[in-house]
Amino acid sequence: MSVKISPLVEAVAFPPIAEAMSWVKPKPGNRALLNMCQAVPSYPPAEKLQAEIARLAHAPNTGGYTDIFGIAPLRTAYAKHMSEDYVTTIDAANVAITTGCNQAFSAAIMAIAKAGDNVIIPAPYYFNHQMWLTMMGIEIRSIPAFSESVKHPLAANAAPLIDARTRAIILCTPNNPTGAIYPASELQAFFKLAQSANIMLILDETYKDFRPDAAAPHQLFNQPNWEQTLIQLYSFSKIYALAGYRLGAMLAGPEILHEAAKILDCMTICPPHITQRAVEFGLTELEDWKTEKKLVMKHRLAALRQSFETPGLNYKLVSSGAYFAYVKHPFAEDSKSVAKRLAQDNDLLCLPGTMFGPDQESFLRLAFANVGAERMVELSERLLESQK
Ligand SMILES: Cc1ncc(COP(=O)(O)O)c(C=O)c1O
Repeated sequence: MSVKISPLVEAVAFPPIAEAMSWVKPKPGNRALLNMCQAVPSYPPAEKLQAEIARLAHAPNTGGYTDIFGIAPLRTAYAKHMSEDYVTTIDAANVAITTGCNQAFSAAIMAIAKAGDNVIIPAPYYFNHQMWLTMMGIEIRSIPAFSESVKHPLAANAAPLIDARTRAIILCTPNNPTGAIYPASELQAFFKLAQSANIMLILDETYKDFRPDAAAPHQLFNQPNWEQTLIQLYSFSKIYALAGYRLGAMLAGPEILHEAAKILDCMTICPPHITQRAVEFGLTELEDWKTEKKLVMKHRLAALRQSFETPGLNYKLVSSGAYFAYVKHPFAEDSKSVAKRLAQDNDLLCLPGTMFGPDQESFLRLAFANVGAERMVELSERLLESQK
């Protein structure tokens, strides 16, 4: 007799990073792996932040729960940060601190949709978005995330897919997996579409800190009644190199937050207390460190783009930015077998496009934040080697 499993969960593919890691088989003579599989920075948190975390471990009450949406000073500090970064006014009452951005996404979806509903999401998409939606029994209707001529999704493609059971459009910018940064004007068009259809626009901006310039990413928070349409998500994992410490945030209106509180309470009761206090410190004390790290990523991106200029290289860089490069491989094979071969024969670990949605057999995602600029030459060398 076999164990009875929920068919919704069973239908979802096993977590991609874990699967890809299993392809790497250390052999004598292996070179150091170029690990471009997971979107993590290669460096630890700032020294000052590490010291603060150590101090907090000894501070009174940091082992206790906090409010469901996190501690008030952090909600206030994050609202201030977002107000400055997006040149707007965000109220602390609109902030829910969460146990990572994935939890913020899960709670946002659960608050607005149920099994049998549908959402619109450009493909390729972030696999955890797809996994959660599928486990919830929510239908995914996809539009292209890019075309030959336009490197971002178009609101005009989403409009015909909306029906009475559509609950949201989901966008991620800078995008995982393509790295594309969506223009403010297109985000505005998606917002207007969602508003006119009375559905939500869920915007995952986990990689906002790695955009190429300091201009506000969009004007959506300056729209009258933005809270009726927008749920904005963020992660503290990347910019603070705190992925394992688990902290994210949701910005939303009172009706969504009221429902999200029920979900977050059941999931984790509160976000990790020490991490909240650490990020409160980080939001005010680490500006120089963050500026330095943004520059490090800019150099890595420039070096990666340069490596795709290598003569004879038949892999084509389709899109890149923030933490990611999306690459068309030159083989008639499926991207999964190409990625496996790169891992086993060429010591390069990346994810196949097929892990990010339909029609992605020709693509690979390189998450390059984990690899120093000086190693991007090795990237083109190993890709060239795989062509032989
Ligand atoms: C688009 C996107 N959203 C959310 C996450 C997860 O963020 P967190 O670590 O805060 O849960 C990731 C991590 O890779 C991501 O790429």
